[in-house]
Amino acid sequence: MNKQEQYDELTRQARGLLAGERDRVANAANLSALIWHGLPDLNWCGFYFLKGTELVLGPFQGKPACVRIALGSGVCGAAAQERRTMIVLNVHEFPGHIACDGASNAELVVPLVKDGSVLGVLDLDSPRLARFDEEDAAGIEALARVWLEASD
Ligand code: SME
Repeated sequence: MNKQEQYDELTRQARGLLAGERDRVANAANLSALIWHGLPDLNWCGFYFLKGTELVLGPFQGKPACVRIALGSGVCGAAAQERRTMIVLNVHEFPGHIACDGASNAELVVPLVKDGSVLGVLDLDSPRLARFDEEDAAGIEALARVWLEASD
């Protein structure tokens, strides 16, 4: 399976997994577990939800992480504020990167935007430099859309 086929398969599985459940936390928990077990070379994968001007830790897989991230701070805060997917090839070169797990070297963050509002972000970390590319971004955006459409 090439990467595109892998993401198509994961997206299909995500639709099945989230079908019939509208709770956003439950769906975030299951989607982060699906991604964690479905993709290679990850050391963290999970959700942050926007509460006021802060991103607050949601369901995730990996080591314990920073609980609160100010909007605009780090890769997650930038993705949420700018409402755009961030692909960071080397987090050590990203100004303001927040190191939760020292093993992280690359990061991909997708903003979760519903009806014009930012609900949070979906964040993936990897120990492998340049782990994420445009294909990963499109794949994770598709998975984020499954979550957005499935959850209230
Ligand atoms: N590295 C992120 C913080 C969250 S952790 O990776 C789980 C950032 O710079 O926003």
